[in-house]
Amino acid sequence: MLLPMIGERLDGRCAVVTGGGRGFGESIAIELDALGAAVAVLDIDEAAAQRSAAGLARGLAVACDVGDEASVRSAFAAVRHELGTVDILVNNAGIVSMTPFLQLGEEEWDRIFRVDYTSMYLTCREVAAAMVEQRYGRIVNLSSLAGKRGGGFLGKAAYVAAKAGVIGFTKALARELAPAGVTVNVVSPGAMDTEMTRMLRDDPDLLARVVATIPLGERGTIQDVTDAVVFLCTGAASYLTGETIDVDGGVLME
Ligand SMILES: NC(=O)c1ccc[n+]([C@@H]2O[C@H](COP(=O)([O-])OP(=O)(O)OC[C@H]3O[C@@H](n4cnc5c(N)ncnc54)[C@H](O)[C@@H]3O)[C@@H](O)[C@H]2O)c1
Repeated sequence: MLLPMIGERLDGRCAVVTGGGRGFGESIAIELDALGAAVAVLDIDEAAAQRSAAGLARGLAVACDVGDEASVRSAFAAVRHELGTVDILVNNAGIVSMTPFLQLGEEEWDRIFRVDYTSMYLTCREVAAAMVEQRYGRIVNLSSLAGKRGGGFLGKAAYVAAKAGVIGFTKALARELAPAGVTVNVVSPGAMDTEMTRMLRDDPDLLARVVATIPLGERGTIQDVTDAVVFLCTGAASYLTGETIDVDGGVLME
């Protein structure tokens, strides 16, 4: 945990972590909870959300498909009812598409865009007005190395387009909400070891080729991503907005 360094607690804050049932989201929920925030874990996998929230001091599990408007509306209504105004929103839920463009059907394109991209609009719409009114808010959106360099090892056109869009959306929202002191930023990870990237576990040759592209010479961890996200949720990052932190071991350095 990095936060003793940063020295800010989040007592009294209410956080929502989408896709909080496993992977990065679960880890982010644990750290925000450890800092004192009440954390709502939203996940399409209700059992995973419940398991994750059960480990938190002030956890709330809410079943939610972030790509579905009605589901998002009712999930955030439940969060407001149980925990009050949302101060911190981490848009982490996502699905990957490995389908090459020539085989990519419209149904898959639409699903990836609903979950990885339109979800940002749906969830931010639920929290932005109240954040502006209270003149405090932190929004962190998960993009991907793939979204910045056109894919490569993991993620093809639909995923790449959606994740690239997240960065533009984040900058636009950051600009609009900045006068109210609400920050909106992106964390963009390389290929860490989660269920989403399990194909790398089964393919040592591919994994070796991925690692060969990383200046720091090894894969990052779930904790590396968590630390960047949680940093952006604290006062230590209050002068950062519209930014993207690339947690990728130096792959994208210029
Ligand atoms: N793992 C990586 O290396 C990597 C790299 C770059 C970006 N990312 C991004 O980080 C985020 C988290 O990735 P992860 O590796 O932890 O993934 P993961 O697959 O391990 O976990 C994703 C979680 O999101 C949930 N989810 C999926 N669809 C949902 C929906 N429609 N509504 C609500 N919840 C939903 C899943 O049930 C799961 O609990 C994603 O946005 C992903 O694109 C991951």
